[in-house]
Amino acid sequence: VSAEVREMLLSRIRDVADYPLEGVMFKDITPLLADHEAFSVLTDSLARICTERGATKVIGLEARGFILAAPAAVRAGLGFVPVRKAGKLPGATLAQSYELEYGTAEIEVHAEDLTAEDRVLIIDDVLATGGTAEASLQLVRRAGAQVAGFAVLLEIGFLGGRERLTPALGDVPLEAL
Ligand code: PRP
Repeated sequence: VSAEVREMLLSRIRDVADYPLEGVMFKDITPLLADHEAFSVLTDSLARICTERGATKVIGLEARGFILAAPAAVRAGLGFVPVRKAGKLPGATLAQSYELEYGTAEIEVHAEDLTAEDRVLIIDDVLATGGTAEASLQLVRRAGAQVAGFAVLLEIGFLGGRERLTPALGDVPLEAL
């Protein structure tokens, strides 16, 4: 995106100190979502990435990733596939667990939603430590599909997500708007 769009998007992300824990600076995207122009520019930018990468499906990561990925998928003319936290999908799933700072988490996808023909663009709001992103890449590949790209609104650079993801990404592009 242009420097102008970047500044506009950034200006609508609110920093909330000490949320949800002391010492954490939370990035609140709700002001951006509430602004039709900003949300629309963001949706167009994500849809353009889908098209540029030749994606055939769009994945959104629960929950804030859903909000960005679903309209981008519709705008790009593609189907949307939710990757959910464990225990929320009723059909046959593939599950992937990953390490958190304390303990582990697990995400799932309906196996039948992805095929060997699919090139998947994965979308989330924020890349932090990269744990969620890495698990989602593994899920897509285990489903037999290809990862066409990974796109986020915001990358929190000092948490090292990009470095953590580099081996799993290979030559798959990681784009932070
Ligand atoms: C946040 C964010 C990403 C993830 C990034 O989701 O939306 O999905 O954390 O963190 P990581 O790079 O360290 O894995 P969260 O689990 O807070 O869920 P939510 O979207 O449901 O609020």
